[in-house]
Amino acid sequence: MATAPTFSVTTPIFYVNDAPHIGHAYTEVAADVLARWNRQCGVETWSLTGTDEHGQKILRTAVANDVTPKEWADKLVADAWIPLLETIDIANDDFIRTTEERHESVVQAFLQKLYDDDFIYFGEYEGYYCVGCEEYKQPDDLAQGTGEFEGQYVCPIHGRPVEVLKEANYFFRMSAFGDRLLELYETQPDFIQPDSLRNEIVSFVRRGLDDLSISRQSFDWGVRVPWDEKHVFYVWFDALINYISALGWRADQPGELFQRFWPSNHIVGKDIARFHAVIWPAMLMAAGLPTPRRVFGHGWLLVGGEKMSKSKLTGIAPAQITDVFGSDAFRYYFLRAISFGQDGSFSWEDLAARYQAELANGFGNLASRVVAMIGRYCDGRVPAAGDLDEADARIQQVVELAVERASAAMDRFAIHEAITAIWTIVDELNGYLTEQEPWKVAKDESKVERLHTILATAAEGLRALSVLLAPVMPKSTAQLWTALGADAAIGPLAEQRIDHVASWGQLPAGADVSTLPPLFPRIEADQLG
Ligand code: MSP
Repeated sequence: MATAPTFSVTTPIFYVNDAPHIGHAYTEVAADVLARWNRQCGVETWSLTGTDEHGQKILRTAVANDVTPKEWADKLVADAWIPLLETIDIANDDFIRTTEERHESVVQAFLQKLYDDDFIYFGEYEGYYCVGCEEYKQPDDLAQGTGEFEGQYVCPIHGRPVEVLKEANYFFRMSAFGDRLLELYETQPDFIQPDSLRNEIVSFVRRGLDDLSISRQSFDWGVRVPWDEKHVFYVWFDALINYISALGWRADQPGELFQRFWPSNHIVGKDIARFHAVIWPAMLMAAGLPTPRRVFGHGWLLVGGEKMSKSKLTGIAPAQITDVFGSDAFRYYFLRAISFGQDGSFSWEDLAARYQAELANGFGNLASRVVAMIGRYCDGRVPAAGDLDEADARIQQVVELAVERASAAMDRFAIHEAITAIWTIVDELNGYLTEQEPWKVAKDESKVERLHTILATAAEGLRALSVLLAPVMPKSTAQLWTALGADAAIGPLAEQRIDHVASWGQLPAGADVSTLPPLFPRIEADQLG
């Protein structure tokens, strides 16, 4: 029996040692846009996010704050990580916490299976460990410290000294999976994207893989190793399994959600691509499960040329932006201004400039003008179009082309390209109004049919734009959709299909157009603080 295509997308699960900054929000928004887009293409979709709550980093933060790690995690999840989803308008299907029983039991069952099948053994390891990354590092990966860290090895990502750890632990036989991983990268060339990251991972695996230490006995904040209770699992081994524990996978029966939605697409920052594109597929291979559909590593948000982070005090809270510009502008800005897959520098000036030029003057003003003219010249009813001339037909063609290009770009997760393609409709419609001058046509009663055709065409263009931009800017497009009378005449915006958007004339003549407050109000300088 043929099964309908499905789309499943995940974000990394975030450490709860601190509150989220805009780098975390960026990942969330990207995954959310891909989910909403696919949903509106009629594909059954599932999206997952959550929090990573075990390990030394969280334990140390909790101890420093004089609370238990669980109390700390509960507080951060409730006060910061769940509210983030509303701040940036995320429509996730599930939120997984690694301290939940539904997750811990799957971690134990998964790793018991690997142990029973001899993929795990007991051994000794000594190496450099970065608690910030929760990762053993090779000397080649480290930098020489300067200033107060002179003479010590430091982690280049966190800028802090690594610790020397010597432990007797359980090990995963990752070295056995090098060839199968290389074969996966070869046969499924889009498994790791973008290509620059793929090349990096391929050469890393070609150099040969070591076995991986997967348990700790020096502290106990983690999931207990079921066959040896003195140990807890290494936090990354525990964390990666969230992608299937949330889908209800069980060793004895995979579960309905797992069967429907696995394998997922993983959206991650490039710093953690190796965990997702090397360790995680090797774990799945060992368990006899399908590898992920795709691992996409996006770039870093940079502030002052460096990766933004709370520890370096460059972190900006998402609400600092949304309180002024709104969640739609946040979502639009980061996905339009930065090529998805590349690093991008954040600046308030660039954000404010794009807000004004593209959202307020470009899209917002277009929407206001068309809605206001239908109000003024057509008694607030969408007019019936007469015969289309070349200029009117061109709008239709531009929409068709934009849908085609945006869909192809979204399939490659090139979100910035998709938005650019959709924006050709904004530019074209603005040009069309300037050329057609409906405000002049309205003065000549003999041209009423022409006036109606222009405004009906512009309204159809806005209908298409609302549908195409809804995954990126759900709030303002919903406002516009309602103002166009489309809610009442066609149905809810979220149910409109992207693959049907280019078929012309869906907005019926007579639809009741209401007033539209500015979608992107002017921001005064003093609001920027
Ligand atoms: N807990 C692990 C992930 C486990 S997934 C099984 C982790 N958590 S994290 O809180 O450090 O967040 C990592 C993710 O946050 C990065 O992969 C990236 O998606 C996002 N970002 C954190 N800082 C960022 C920037 N400065 N820029 C862009 N994204 C950033 O690693």
